[in-house]
Amino acid sequence: MSLTFHAQHDIGYIEFDHPDSKVNVLTSDVMKRFGALLDEAATKTSLKALVIQSKKKNVFIAGADIKEIEGITDAKEGAAKAEAGQLILDKLEDFTIPTIAVIDGVALGGGCELALACRYRVGTFNEKILIGLPEVNLGIMPGFGGTYRMPRLLGLSEGLKMIVSGRPINGEKALKAGLLDRLYPQTNLDKHVARFVEEILGGVHISRKKKKGVEGLLDSSKIGQEIIFSQTESSIVKSTKGFYPAPLRAMQVIKRTFYLDRQRGMKLEAEAFGKLAVTDVSKSLVKVFYATEKYKKLTPPGTENITPMPIAKCAVLGAGVMGGGIAQALSAKDIWVRLKDVNNDALAKGYQAAYKIYKDALKRKRLKPHEVSRKMAHITSTLDYTGFETSDMVIEAIIEKMEIKKKVFKELSGVVNPKTILCSNTSALSVTEMAKETKDPSKVIGLHFFNPVNRMPLIEVVVTPLTSPETLAATINFVKILGKTPIVAKDKPGFLVNRILLSYINEAGRILEEGADMQAIDRVMVDFGMPMGPFNLTDEVGIDVGYKVLEILHHGLGERFKPVEIFHKVFEKGLLGKKAGKGFYIHKEKRVPNPDVQKLISARSAEGGPTDWSNRMLVMMINEAARCLEEGIVDEAMAVDVGMILGTGFPPFRGGLLRYADAIGIGQVIELLKLYESRSGAERFKPCAYLLKLQADGRKFYADYVKA
Ligand SMILES: NC(=O)c1ccc[n+]([C@@H]2O[C@H](COP(=O)([O-])OP(=O)(O)OC[C@H]3O[C@@H](n4cnc5c(N)ncnc54)[C@H](O)[C@@H]3O)[C@@H](O)[C@H]2O)c1
Repeated sequence: MSLTFHAQHDIGYIEFDHPDSKVNVLTSDVMKRFGALLDEAATKTSLKALVIQSKKKNVFIAGADIKEIEGITDAKEGAAKAEAGQLILDKLEDFTIPTIAVIDGVALGGGCELALACRYRVGTFNEKILIGLPEVNLGIMPGFGGTYRMPRLLGLSEGLKMIVSGRPINGEKALKAGLLDRLYPQTNLDKHVARFVEEILGGVHISRKKKKGVEGLLDSSKIGQEIIFSQTESSIVKSTKGFYPAPLRAMQVIKRTFYLDRQRGMKLEAEAFGKLAVTDVSKSLVKVFYATEKYKKLTPPGTENITPMPIAKCAVLGAGVMGGGIAQALSAKDIWVRLKDVNNDALAKGYQAAYKIYKDALKRKRLKPHEVSRKMAHITSTLDYTGFETSDMVIEAIIEKMEIKKKVFKELSGVVNPKTILCSNTSALSVTEMAKETKDPSKVIGLHFFNPVNRMPLIEVVVTPLTSPETLAATINFVKILGKTPIVAKDKPGFLVNRILLSYINEAGRILEEGADMQAIDRVMVDFGMPMGPFNLTDEVGIDVGYKVLEILHHGLGERFKPVEIFHKVFEKGLLGKKAGKGFYIHKEKRVPNPDVQKLISARSAEGGPTDWSNRMLVMMINEAARCLEEGIVDEAMAVDVGMILGTGFPPFRGGLLRYADAIGIGQVIELLKLYESRSGAERFKPCAYLLKLQADGRKFYADYVKA
C-alpha cells in the first residue's frame, strides 16, 4: 500500500497513492495505515505542520471503498466500520499542529470527510476538482464525521444542502462556500503550499466569510435553524417521494447532532449509517452505480485494440427538436457543428433551441457569458452540403420517414469524405436499410440520443451487421467525450429502450380503453417510482412521436405492438400532447385530464385494480426485455437496466427493470403473464422462451442475484 509519511524540514507530508489504481480509495486497511501514520507524525515533535496530499492525477481521494459498503450485512457491523473511521479522523482533527489537505482533483465521500477533519483545505484551479458528500446517491449517508463537520464549516443551510443533495461542487464554488481556503495554480503547487504553510505559521488569519443576508440570519439563530430543517424536510419529502430514505435520515441526524458534542454526534451518525447501509434501497443503488460506471467506460468486444478516430468536426442534419439539442450538446464539448436544414426558419429554431440551453446555464452560473459566446460560435449553419466534406461525422436527425432518410443517406454518401462516419438518430427505423444506400455501409451506425438531449445521459449506439469495429470504436469514444453513457444495441425495430418502453405505454392504453381511470393508471406507476405516469409521459414526448414509433414496432415486430385504438384516435384528433397544449391532459398552469379523451372511450370499468394494472404494465416490459436478450439486441441484463434507468427514468432504487424482475422472482413474472393471458386470451402475454428457460434452469436475469 502506497501511503507514506515523510518530513521535509519541519513539515510532515502524508501522501496517498493507491497502487495499481487511478484513484485513491479509503478501504479499512488504508484507514488503519493512515491512523498509524498520524501516530507516527504525532511523535515527531519537531513538526510544525502536517500536509496531506495525493500523488494521483486529478484525484485527492475518491471516497470510501464501495465494495466494503456493499459487503455490510448487519447494521451494527456498519456502525462499527463508521466508528473506526471516525476515530481516525477525530485524531486528525485533534492534531495540535495545523493540518492542511491539498486537493487537486476529486475529494468525494470519505475523501471529503478526511479533508474536513483538517484545519485547512487548499485547492487548485484544476477543472477536475469536485468536492462533496455524494453518499445519499448510494442510499447511505456520510459515516466518517461528514454530517457533523460539514454544517459546522459551511453553515447549516449550505452544509445540509451538500449532504442531502449529494451534489459535489467545483473548486471555485468550494472556495466561495468556505470549503476551500485558497485556490492555487497547478504548476509549482508544492511551492504554493509551502508558502501557505508559512503564512499560517506566521500567524496569518485565514478568514472564512460568515454568511450574510437571510441565509446568515437563518444559520445563526435557533429559530432560523428550525426553519432550515423544516424547509429541507419538505423539499426532501417532495423530491424523494419516500422512496429514498437516506437524505431524510441524514437530515434527522444533523437536526440532533448539530446541538451535540462531537462524541455523541459521531455515535448517532455511525448508527444511522449502519442502518442505511443494510437497506434494500442502498444495495440496489450500489448495483446501479456499478452498472452505470461499467457502461460509462464501455469498450465493446472487438474494439479493444482499436485507437478511435478523433471526431472534431460534425455535421448535423435537421435543426428540429433533436438536431438543435444535438448541436448544443456537441458545441458544449467544443466540437464544431455544421447544422443543415431545409430553410432558414428551421435553422433559426435550431439556434434558438441551443441558445435557450446556454441561457439557462448562464442563469445557473454554470457558464460565463464569454464561454457561451465561444460555444455558440462553434455552430455554423447551411442550407446545402457545404462544409460536410470536411466533417468527421454526420448525425442525421430529420423526419422519421424511411424513404426520406434513405434519400438523404444516398446524398450524404456522395458529398462526405471516405473516412466520415454517418450516424442516424432514428428512434426505431432500420439503420441497415439506410446504410445500404451509401457507398461504404461499414461507416454507418445509429446514434440514438434521448430527448431532451442536454439532460438525458443515455445514447443507444445501434450497430448493423455492416458496421465496422472502427466505426463502433470511434462512435463509442465520441459518446464518452459528450459525457453520455453508451449502450450498444442491435439494429432491430425500436432497438432496446423504445421497444420496451412502448410495450408499456401501449399496455397502459389498453387498460385505459378497458375503462380504467387515466389518472389512476398514471398514479400507480408514479407510486411504483416512475418519474411520471405513461399518459403524462406520452404527452411530454408528443403523441405523434410515440405513435410513429409504435407503428414501426407493429410493422416490424408484429401484433403485440398494434397501437391501441385510443392512441390512434387521440393522434387523429391532433391532441399531440404538451407541445399542442392538449393531449391526454390539458396543459395549462395545472395539468388536468382532457375530457375529450374520456369521450373517446366507451368502456367504463376495467377489470382489476391499480396493483393489477401496474403488474400488467411491468410484466409486459419484462417479457419484452427478455425477448431483447433472446434476440441478442443487447448482450446482458445490465444493459437493459442501464438503458431503462438512464433512458426512461425507471426507478434506480428498484435496481432496474430486470433486477426488479429477479426480486419478485422469474416464477412470479411467468405466473402473472399466464394469468393475464388466460384472462384475456391475448397472445402478447405469452411468456417468451428466454423467460421460460430461465425458470426451467432455476436461473435469474443476473447470475449474482442473492435474495436479501
Ligand atoms: N423528438 C424526440 O423525442 C426524438 C427522440 C429521439 C430520436 N428522435 C428522432 O430524431 C429525428 C428527428 O426528430 P425531431 O423530433 O427532431 O423532428 P423535428 O420534426 O423536430 O425536426 C426535423 C427537422 O428536420 C428537418 N428536415 C427534414 N428533411 C430534411 C432534409 N432533407 N435535410 C435537412 N433537414 C431536414 C425539418 O425541417 C425539421 O427542422 C427522428 O428520426 C426522430 O425519430 C426523436
